[in-house]
Amino acid sequence: MKKVLVLLISVSIATMSFAGEGMWLPIFLKSLNETEMQNMGMRMSAEDIYSVNKGSLKDAIVHFGGFCTAEVISSQGLLLTNHHCGYSAIQSHTSLEKNYIRDGFWAASHKHELSNPGLFAKFIVRIDDVSEQILAGVTEEMDEATRQSTIDKNIKSLREATTLKKFEEIEVRPFFKGNQYFSITTITYPDVRLVGAPPEMIGKFGSDTDNWVWPRHTGDFAIFRIYANENNEPAEYSENNVPFKPKHHLPISLDGVEQDDFTLVFGFPGRTNSYLPSYAISQIVDVLNPAKIGIRDQALKIVDAEMRRDPQVKIQYASKFARIANYWKKWIGESQGIKVTDGIGRKQKLEAKFKKVLSKKKNLHKKYGSLLDEFEALYKELEPYALMKGHYDEIVGRNIEIMRAANYMRRLADRYENNGAAAYGKYKNILISRFFDDFYKNYRPEIDQKVFATLMKTYSENAQMGIADPVKKLMLTLGTKDYKELASHLYTKTKFTTKEALYSVLEKAPEEAVKILRADPLFIFTDELAQQYNTQIANQYSEIQAKINKNQRLYMKALMEAFPKQRFYPDANSTLRVTYGKVDGYAPRDAVQYTPVTYLEGIIEKHVEDDYEFHVPERLRKLYELKDYGQYADKTGKVPVCFIGTNHTTGGNSGSPAVDAYGNLIGLNFDRAWEGTMSDYNYDASICRNIMVDVRYILFVIDKYAGARHLIDEMTLVHPKEE
Ligand code: ARG
Ligand code: ASP
Repeated sequence: MKKVLVLLISVSIATMSFAGEGMWLPIFLKSLNETEMQNMGMRMSAEDIYSVNKGSLKDAIVHFGGFCTAEVISSQGLLLTNHHCGYSAIQSHTSLEKNYIRDGFWAASHKHELSNPGLFAKFIVRIDDVSEQILAGVTEEMDEATRQSTIDKNIKSLREATTLKKFEEIEVRPFFKGNQYFSITTITYPDVRLVGAPPEMIGKFGSDTDNWVWPRHTGDFAIFRIYANENNEPAEYSENNVPFKPKHHLPISLDGVEQDDFTLVFGFPGRTNSYLPSYAISQIVDVLNPAKIGIRDQALKIVDAEMRRDPQVKIQYASKFARIANYWKKWIGESQGIKVTDGIGRKQKLEAKFKKVLSKKKNLHKKYGSLLDEFEALYKELEPYALMKGHYDEIVGRNIEIMRAANYMRRLADRYENNGAAAYGKYKNILISRFFDDFYKNYRPEIDQKVFATLMKTYSENAQMGIADPVKKLMLTLGTKDYKELASHLYTKTKFTTKEALYSVLEKAPEEAVKILRADPLFIFTDELAQQYNTQIANQYSEIQAKINKNQRLYMKALMEAFPKQRFYPDANSTLRVTYGKVDGYAPRDAVQYTPVTYLEGIIEKHVEDDYEFHVPERLRKLYELKDYGQYADKTGKVPVCFIGTNHTTGGNSGSPAVDAYGNLIGLNFDRAWEGTMSDYNYDASICRNIMVDVRYILFVIDKYAGARHLIDEMTLVHPKEE
């Protein structure tokens, strides 16, 4: 009996240490993670992953444009990232004659590689713990404003005291909710060129239907290259720039991984919230997510119907639809996942444990005894404001397109009144080139009007807390009988529905233009909504949220003091992190078990002739028929396409490399499995999985499908399992 118990305990400890939770700071791997990683099969040292003294994995990882991750895969600065991360770059070079989205793009030589103004690759030179310096002089009694100004002063002096090499920059950022501060030294290369991309039917295969879904068959990759000046230094685009020579590039394994193999994902996760109290999680699941999902449900239904009716609308709205659908789908999975894994119950258990520790430790109790009750009260107070903020952000800020246009016009008018005609002119040109030109290319007022009528009803019906409802007020003034009539009135009268009408206003002298803008009924209405939002929702919201933030900082500290033996990782904040786990399937629901690898066979199975999501290019089907796989098939003779693991990832990790026990590239991270998207709040190793493209599929597409063999020749291909 005893033996069984010991066995059970050691098994559960072993499986616990195999849970993939955590987005770890590269500088603490040695002290916190190395032993566990090696027990899980890793054959590298922490120093091989992150070092400031020698080339390490980190020298091959870049923050790609600030929104995704990419990695260097050749000695000539070749970069690998996701197709969806490179999408707007690819789209910007696309025209009807050169349709790179549809047909793919492969630069025949360096001089054919395409520059992308604004896109950059940022390397991390070093990360340092500067908590002591930054928090010097900060006391627990301080009010928040004094605390912040002390910190700002310390950051300023740290910056002044730091000598940076040419092209380096330093960022000082809060971690662990502001309990610690780290400085990050970076070097940014602004000349990043497009080298290759598969056709959309490979790079975005499965589109929205398969988005967030396992089993998956998307070849979500694109290839770029970093260019530098002749001294290998960062330089703005110039014809004289040459391919960048990295300190390290990732070797690529042709041996792949199997069930339970160690995997490590290295990249720039954007935002997580792993230490929220149970009250916050229930608010997300019960109140905020349902509202946001409901709003997007309505908007997506309207747009979807129009897209099905008219192929032109389909083209105009495809990308916008995908963006709205992406998080709509994520939130649904997130809420379900929290319910299925009892995420709220788990937080409550932790809170009970926390209270128990406090009850035994007087000093902790004195400092932190009231935190949880305060959280409860604060979240209750926040709820109506958070809900209204959610409505405003989603409805006015995102889903009714014309209100975004109107809000830009409000800012433009303000600019004129506050900063004068020159500033107005400058801002007007920026708005036209960066927003409106594009906006009108893909804008259908008649569709937007329907969305307006539907969502304004929702907005108006949710105006709570007894605040005056500007929507109803306007309907009364105008005497319109319903929201449809209101929409029709505004969309007929406004100048914002067409490019011609708006631009003819903007062509006039500033003073006259602003006068016309200010008299536009949609301007007036949007302005009223914004005023009401700012004074009666946003201000209150930020005030309460500031108190919550303070509580959260104290709670984080309290948890670390109450459970001193537990390892903590800081929430994601778009800084470089390591996450590791193993290749593993999962059981999404009763009687269903997913295996961790998909194959080319699955692509063929999903093929639907002429379907915009699932049409498999003929050339790919041909290669499959001929079994022309070259060196890219696995031991069983099949080409693996995607695989999943327990690595803890989030938005921003797209494009991150997945490496094997030795640091060889095996895959490219691009998504998570739907059932586990609650990992941002409540990671659970039983269902949280990240999705990666197998690098052998990527090479197969480059080599066999696209015939871009010269790119393969640049790379370092290895067989770690044979050595
Ligand atoms: N779900 C992934 C992420 O969050 C991929 C999104 C791009 N693909 C799409 N069909 N929208 O970014
Ligand atoms: N698809 C996400 C990204 O673009 C990754 C994720 O949310 O798992 O970063």
